[in-house]
Amino acid sequence: MRSQPGDQALQVVRALKRYVKNLIEQDGSPVIFNTLAASSPRFKSEYFHKSLKRYVPGQPAYDEGCKLPGHSGLEALAKNIQVCSQCGLAGTRKKVVFGEGDPEASLVFVGEAPGADEDREGKPFVGAAGKLLTRIIESIGLKREQVYICNILKCRPPGNRNPKPEEIAACQPYLIQQLKMLHPRLICALGSFAAQTLLDSNEPIGRLRGKIYTYQDIPLVPTFHPAALLYHPQNKRLVWEDMKRIAGILGLKPVSPKT
Ligand code: URA
Repeated sequence: MRSQPGDQALQVVRALKRYVKNLIEQDGSPVIFNTLAASSPRFKSEYFHKSLKRYVPGQPAYDEGCKLPGHSGLEALAKNIQVCSQCGLAGTRKKVVFGEGDPEASLVFVGEAPGADEDREGKPFVGAAGKLLTRIIESIGLKREQVYICNILKCRPPGNRNPKPEEIAACQPYLIQQLKMLHPRLICALGSFAAQTLLDSNEPIGRLRGKIYTYQDIPLVPTFHPAALLYHPQNKRLVWEDMKRIAGILGLKPVSPKT
């Protein structure tokens, strides 16, 4: 009996599954691939929207200059955001916190939203949680200046309350554009808000962490937020596991963390 084109496709799919299974077994890390996103540009754009779809995106409030390749696009976007009034946080913020670090960084950390210190200084993660984040970065043999750090929200929610869905939706076009221009080799999502937003999930961080996902074909490792570690230091051990996972992907040498 002659084989049908459908049979051949099935064989290819099975061979690919075996190949991925072998890769996972060799590496020892559980990997979740968005196989459709990885295989076809048509599905790529679908995944692009899907990965952030739980918040209906706001209209981009930036001009064409923000689409320029490289640093100039990123700088233009940072400038546009300074005058953003897409949500109510514009009325209460002191400074917009766009993000900082090496625009060529292999590794980008995405946090939740600026706190009081960040709002005052206009820089991400400068308070107590930021100091811990710096130590976490150093645990994988990098300096803080060698990575890029930003947040889901660019403005502080008053009283450090949780971001509202409409605020995330309003800020989303900026984040999408920012990550597109940074195009790192790996994203580390800090805490539930960052992980859930980037992965379009409702799962808490405790269930999301421990695996490797993809955002726009970029590997994404979720871990606990450093602010949460200040209250639950017992989870530092799990963050260390996640950092070793990141170091493995990026070919870095983890150094024993200073706790
Ligand atoms: N927490 C965050 O999520 N981001 C900051 O910039 C500071 C604290």
